[in-house]
Amino acid sequence: MKNQIIPYLVACYLAAEGLFYCLPAVWAAEEKAAPLTAVLAVDTASPAHPYSRMLFGGFLEHFHRQIYGGLYEPGSPLSDAKGFRQDVIEAIKELRTPIVRWPGGCFVSAYHWRDGVGKDRQPSFDKAWGVEDPNTFGTDEFVEWCRLAGVEPYICGNAGTGTPEEMSDWVEYCNQTQGRWARLRQAGGHPEPFNVHYWSVGNENWGAHEIGAKSIPEWGPLVRETAKMMRRVDPSIVLTAAALGDDWNRSLLQHAGGSLRMISIHGYWDELWVEDKPSDYATCMLRSRQPEESILQVERLLESTGFKGKIQIAFDEWNLRGWHHPGVMTGFTPEAIKARDRNDINGTYTMADALFSACFLNACLRHADTVKMANIAPLVNTRGPLFVHPKGIVKRTTYHVLRLFANLLAPQVSPAAVTSGPFKQGDAAVPAVDAVATCDAAKQDWRFALVNRHPAVAASCVIQFDGAAASGTCWATVLSGDAPEAFNDIEHPERVRPRRVELAFQNGAVTLPPHSLTILEVSRTVPPK
Ligand code: AHR
Repeated sequence: MKNQIIPYLVACYLAAEGLFYCLPAVWAAEEKAAPLTAVLAVDTASPAHPYSRMLFGGFLEHFHRQIYGGLYEPGSPLSDAKGFRQDVIEAIKELRTPIVRWPGGCFVSAYHWRDGVGKDRQPSFDKAWGVEDPNTFGTDEFVEWCRLAGVEPYICGNAGTGTPEEMSDWVEYCNQTQGRWARLRQAGGHPEPFNVHYWSVGNENWGAHEIGAKSIPEWGPLVRETAKMMRRVDPSIVLTAAALGDDWNRSLLQHAGGSLRMISIHGYWDELWVEDKPSDYATCMLRSRQPEESILQVERLLESTGFKGKIQIAFDEWNLRGWHHPGVMTGFTPEAIKARDRNDINGTYTMADALFSACFLNACLRHADTVKMANIAPLVNTRGPLFVHPKGIVKRTTYHVLRLFANLLAPQVSPAAVTSGPFKQGDAAVPAVDAVATCDAAKQDWRFALVNRHPAVAASCVIQFDGAAASGTCWATVLSGDAPEAFNDIEHPERVRPRRVELAFQNGAVTLPPHSLTILEVSRTVPPK
């Protein structure tokens, strides 16, 4: 309020002079005049560490049009002979998505993998979502699709209605050369093992919404026994398990910690399951520090249980917007099932989604010693970065964010101190600028991911190396859209797209446009020793 007094007095004067028409201009000038500054300081002597590229992973569930009518559409002129949409595969390759989790999600907790393999496949009723699954896309198709898209397959097992034996049989089907299930795979035309490396025991089994939900005392021993059986089939697999909340996780770690390499946590920060009223830009930005709080909470638990450094986090479902699927707890009506179409209203996915996602990835990178995998949920349709329709695809704002992170950042993350003026809304505030620093092993090639959350004010961001301000010019890729609410859709597929520009440092600073993500590329010549 304090810095609004002068414009207020000016306005009073203008009002007295009968110049009311000037008021909006006065207020706008006040808004623009408020300077926003930030400093990102790197100490090049601090050790930088490689991070896992699996942070840029994805998730695909048998839900609505993610699989059928999404990446898999036999008969479409855009699909290959097997039914895989070629335009989707090309877009995923461009994203360089490293890993994809499948087949759920809630779906998996009543899914029997044997229904989706072999020649005689019958449709089955999907109890999680109340629809029929044709079972034409199963394990073979998932693995084949992963190979075509260049991604690592990650399978989540049914710990709801499934048993440890069923989950371990799935490992046999995928990775063994001997046994009844391995032979079934071979008979289906896959003589060589699929070698699926990443597996999860269960999905959200802590929740009342989940089919076959488990209690805290049940979960740890079940995971331990399941892990034992899965490992007897293939000792090389990497295992994670459904985790949430301190008490649940403590018990899980106590019983099964020795068998796990990761624990799986999920986060959606705009909960739209029942009512589809997406939050506005400012609200989303004010929530954009919450993912880091979730990570810190799990890190504290890992520390206190002695597992820090031994077990990592798989943030294997994340997205700003929760999926809209009313009726989970009350029963699915035809209207409730139809309401799932709302997830694909492209106008929902604005710069708010883009910048929230960038802040999420920045948080994972800052905690790259504990967070090893993160999977945007989902990858295709519903709330995903790629909207797929019968005639083509739309790259939503979040697609560009993932592509920039996966393609432009350097391979190591360096500690960086970031200070920033605030973005305020009412009584709430967050730093306007969020940032991470990455570099190559020689610390010559630096790539900064810089988010300006402010919807209206550009930020002047100083880049410092060892206390000295950067100088000269550098290349930058900027994603901002023409408004905080900008989005892409079929009619305007390129309204939000990255622009590559050359920037000059002014007193060590570059300008970050309002509501933007900037990936800055700075080369430093390190003097020979
Ligand atoms: O809302 C989608 C669902 O979100 C996924 O199936 C589940 O894993 C999570 O609760």
